[in-house]
Amino acid sequence: MQRLARGWRSEAAKVGLIPTMGYLHQGHLSLVKRARKQAGSDGKVVVSIYVNPTQFGPQEDFSRYPRDLKRDAALCREAGVDVVFAPSDAEMYPREEGAAYSTYVVEETLSRGLEGASRPTHFRGVTTIVAKLFNIVQPDLAVFGVKDFQQAAVITRMARDLNFPLKVLVAPIHRESDGLAMSSRNKYLEGELRARALVLWESIHKIQAAVAAASAPIPAPRLKAQLKQFIDGQPSARLDYLEFIHPETLAPVAEVTRGVQVVLAVFVGKTRLIDNARI
Ligand code: PAJ
Repeated sequence: MQRLARGWRSEAAKVGLIPTMGYLHQGHLSLVKRARKQAGSDGKVVVSIYVNPTQFGPQEDFSRYPRDLKRDAALCREAGVDVVFAPSDAEMYPREEGAAYSTYVVEETLSRGLEGASRPTHFRGVTTIVAKLFNIVQPDLAVFGVKDFQQAAVITRMARDLNFPLKVLVAPIHRESDGLAMSSRNKYLEGELRARALVLWESIHKIQAAVAAASAPIPAPRLKAQLKQFIDGQPSARLDYLEFIHPETLAPVAEVTRGVQVVLAVFVGKTRLIDNARI
């Protein structure tokens, strides 16, 4: 992959990378479209597909995360992707002669709260694998989804702090027609749980409506308490966190008003879903 990328660069072709864990959906493909547009018609678009073990906690869904490389490859072909880079665990985390893999990349500020608080080793795994992918594919640009709001912020910061010579682009959330944010994990939503999963989108709507109707900023703790009550009151739903944050620093805000970012994580049955919106 490195050799291929170096060849492209010597021909002055722009290279765009979309890192994914596969089981591709229209959300992923919207990032492909964005990369193609940015890289130009003589540019190269690479989709990486790798279910990265280091970003899953010990009790999480690594082993049952959905995988279908054949289908993913067909979708990529249809979407005009030039290369699918799908490495093995042994290639990404070599343990030659018993020496364990031992180098990690850690972002120390933006990754601490929210997802980082609920999933303590998650972002270390994300920044490490994305740094590795940047070094392997050597793209001019990489596209991430705002669906994973904190992840996009952490990766943007990492690229700046470590001087990766590339542009990080962040693309909007692709949703199902009823508002559910597309996610590979939606596959877990069997039977009535699919309808229950709308609680995230409904929560965002409630917040938008409350802010639109308010004549003054709303104290964040009050709105949070209302939403917690609403979410935990829905069948099969349990709030993990809901925070109102500054969209750049990710610091919690005291008052909810236009321009604030809301981020939330909710268990629907056993499936943990995330969503977010700018108010
Ligand atoms: P994955 O969940 O497969 O997502 C890959 C990329 O697609 C991420 O940038 C994510 O934000 C984006 N994405 C997911 N659902 C989306 C939607 N509904 N609309 C728009 N974009 C969406 O995120 C990861 O993989 C991994 O953490 C990764 C960055 C690949 C590192 O392993």
